Amino acid sequence: MSPMHFPALSDGYAYLDGAGGTQMPEAVIEAMADASRRGLANVGGVFPASDRADSAVEECRAAIADLVSGEPAGVVLGPNMTTLTYRVASALSKQWAPGDEVIVTQLDHDANIRPWIQAADRVGAVVRWATIDTSTGDLPTEQFQALVNGKTRLVAVTAASNLTGIKPNVAEIAAIAHNHRALLFVDGVHATAHQVTDIRALGADFYATSAYKWYGPHVGAIIADPGLLERFEPDKLLPQSDVVPERYEWGTPSFANLVGVAAAVDELASLSGDIGTRRERIRQAMGTVEQREQTLFLDLLKGLSELPSVSLYGQSSFRAPTAFFRVADLTPQQLAGALARRQVNVWHGDNFAIELCRALGLDQTGGAVRASLAIYNQAEDVHRLVAAVGEIVDSLATSRHRE
Ligand SMILES: Cc1ncc(COP(=O)(O)O)c(C=O)c1O
Repeated sequence: MSPMHFPALSDGYAYLDGAGGTQMPEAVIEAMADASRRGLANVGGVFPASDRADSAVEECRAAIADLVSGEPAGVVLGPNMTTLTYRVASALSKQWAPGDEVIVTQLDHDANIRPWIQAADRVGAVVRWATIDTSTGDLPTEQFQALVNGKTRLVAVTAASNLTGIKPNVAEIAAIAHNHRALLFVDGVHATAHQVTDIRALGADFYATSAYKWYGPHVGAIIADPGLLERFEPDKLLPQSDVVPERYEWGTPSFANLVGVAAAVDELASLSGDIGTRRERIRQAMGTVEQREQTLFLDLLKGLSELPSVSLYGQSSFRAPTAFFRVADLTPQQLAGALARRQVNVWHGDNFAIELCRALGLDQTGGAVRASLAIYNQAEDVHRLVAAVGEIVDSLATSRHRE
C-alpha cells in the first residue's frame, strides 16, 4: 500500500519491531536534512533562520493537531512521552490534596503509571489500580464504576497496550471518569500509529503520543484543550513564556526534528491522495492503515497459534497489531536472538510494561517476545516470522528427541 520509501528497510531484515520505534521514510529524512542545510536558529529572532524555527514549531503543532483531531494551541511538544508525562503529572498534582485518588492500570506502560504514583505519593493521594482479566488480557471497563468516585482526580489509561496490543474501551472509561469530574490521561504512544485518532471521541482530556512510533523522529507530544492547560501551573523558568502550550515546554527543542514530525504527518496524509484537508486525508489514511494491518495481523496470529509450543498472550480481537508470545523451553532473549539470526527484528522482555508482565506471570522469566506490524510490513514479513518460529520450534523438538 505504501508509496513511501523507507531506506532503512533495504538491509534485508523483516522489521517487526515497530512498537519500539519505526523507521523513517525518505521524505522525512530529507525534510530534516533540508531544514538543517537551509539553516535553523532559535525561535523569536528577527532574521530568516529564526523565522524558520518559529515556522517549524507552528507547523509541528498543526500537524500533530491534525493527526489526533486536536487544536494546535493545545499541543505541548517535548523530547518524548515519558518526560512530558512527568511534567504534566507534576503540574496537575500541585492541585491534589491528601486523600484525593488517582487510578492507574496494569495494562499500561510504566510511563503512564510511575509518574502518577510518584506524584500521588508526594501529596499523600491514594493510588487505585484497575486490573486486567488474566485469562483474556483485557482491561474490563465495569471495574471503573467501582474505582472512580468523587475523590478521583485523575484516571490514567492506555489506548493500546504496547505488549499485547489490547485496546481498552477508552470512551466508556472517559464517561465514567467525567461523571465524577475526574480527568482522563490517555497514553496513545502505541495506538496512534494503528488507528484513526480523535481525542474528543475518545474523551481524552490529555492524550500523549510519540512521533518515533509513527515514522517520525524522536519528539513527544501531549495534546489537551488549551483551556485545560491554562488551569495548571507547571514549574518553569521565569523568562519562559507563560502562555499555553509554551508554558509546559522546557528549553530548546530540536527544530529539525519538529520539521520531521510535520513531514511524517504529511506522508501519512498522502496515503489517501491529495483531496480534502490534511485532517480529512489523515482520517481516511489511518482507517486504511488499520484495515490493512489488521488483515496481516490475523495471518500472523493464525500462523503463530498453529505452531506447537507457542503461547500467545492476549485473546481480545480489539487490539493493535502487536503479538506477545513465547516458545516453550526458550527464554524470550534466546527466541529473539534465534529470530535475529533469521533476519527478523523483534523485541523481547517486558518493554517497560512491567505491571502487565507481572499480571501475566512473566516477570520472573524474562517477559516474552513482541512482534508488531507497521505500515511498511508486507505479507512476506509475516510469513518469514511464522516460518522462522516454526523452524526454531522444529529444531528444539529434534534436539529434545535426540536427548
Ligand atoms: C505505550 C507506550 N507508552 C509510553 C512509552 C514511552 O514513550 P517515550 O519513549 O516517548 O517516552 C512507550 C514507549 O515505548 C510506549 O510504547
